[in-house]
Amino acid sequence: MKHIALLTSGGDAPGMNAAIRAVVRTGLAKGWDVFGIRHGYAGLISGEIVPLGARDVGGIIQQGGTMLGTARCPEFKTTVGRVKALSQLRRHGIEALVVIGGNGSQTGAYALSQMGFPVVGVASTIDNDLYGCDISIGVDTALNISLEAIDRLKVTASSHHRAFLVEVMGRECGYLALMAAIAGGAETVIIPEEETDPEAVATELRAAYNNGKAHAIVVVAEGARYNAEGMALHFQVHKERLGFDLRVTKLGHVQRGGTPSSFDRLLGTRLGAAATEQLAEGGYGVLMGLLKGEITSTPLTEVTANKKQLDLHLLELARVLAL
Ligand code: ADP
Ligand code: F6P
Repeated sequence: MKHIALLTSGGDAPGMNAAIRAVVRTGLAKGWDVFGIRHGYAGLISGEIVPLGARDVGGIIQQGGTMLGTARCPEFKTTVGRVKALSQLRRHGIEALVVIGGNGSQTGAYALSQMGFPVVGVASTIDNDLYGCDISIGVDTALNISLEAIDRLKVTASSHHRAFLVEVMGRECGYLALMAAIAGGAETVIIPEEETDPEAVATELRAAYNNGKAHAIVVVAEGARYNAEGMALHFQVHKERLGFDLRVTKLGHVQRGGTPSSFDRLLGTRLGAAATEQLAEGGYGVLMGLLKGEITSTPLTEVTANKKQLDLHLLELARVLAL
């Protein structure tokens, strides 16, 4: 093995830079040439491939985002797109690829490995919806940002006797919403995994009001059938029945742009270094992720065939704790 490359793909996640730095420096330490691919699979198809030295990845571990850039690239989902990508890899003499990204990105990595190219994935997405890891790069930071916002909203909510619908990210997965609700002491949580009747939420808000609470927080995952705006629209009819006055705050991309927490820096570093080790051992076609506290490799075939399940017992716990 002499030449390896790495890319970041899909939604950026705080801690991706730590993973980039670790892949580059552990690769260089093995005497390999390491190449960075800009803008995910889009840059792979168009050949934006640059050599990376140790100094190129200096001063990035403390920065959110990804110094390589990332992209959503529909063309890579097609065989034609992947054939173009493969020919770029061959043209640059790349022998193996590290893909740092979430569910979609690892599906792409698997497709490439099915075409015979050596690939190792690194689990990275704030959604925490990737099979093969208990927690992926970026989740801890995004959750902490959500909590900071919820803590602040509670202060102003209490002053005005208001309820807030706080929308957090999570296209298809309610992990961030559920954890933010539990750790933020929310009254209610709405997630895509369980359909929520807006009238049940109205009843819960009224009960919180009647129980003498000074505020109420409803954490809503963006991918839920009723997102925050949808829920607020529903409550427009007889909104005085809620007891509280109602406001909506959508956290959006603020959650992704934060400074990586110590957890995400260490996780990114460990997973990046493990990916290099995996390449050195010739164990391709796997995802590196943290499972039961250990850095573990899971075949991409398994990762892409399974859906990570949210522990719905925690949803019940969130409800009990909101008494
Ligand atoms: P994430 O990796 O954060 O889940 P996306 O789901 O947007 O983000 O996926 C990122 C990229 O991975 C897509 O833009 C596409 O280039 C690639 N990808 C997603 N699904 C597939 C697929 N089924 N086959 C090949 N590539 C895919
Ligand atoms: O997959 C991560 C994520 O942040 C999702 O939670 C969210 O739905 C999506 O990315 C937003 O994508 P974009 O940055 O392309 O708007």
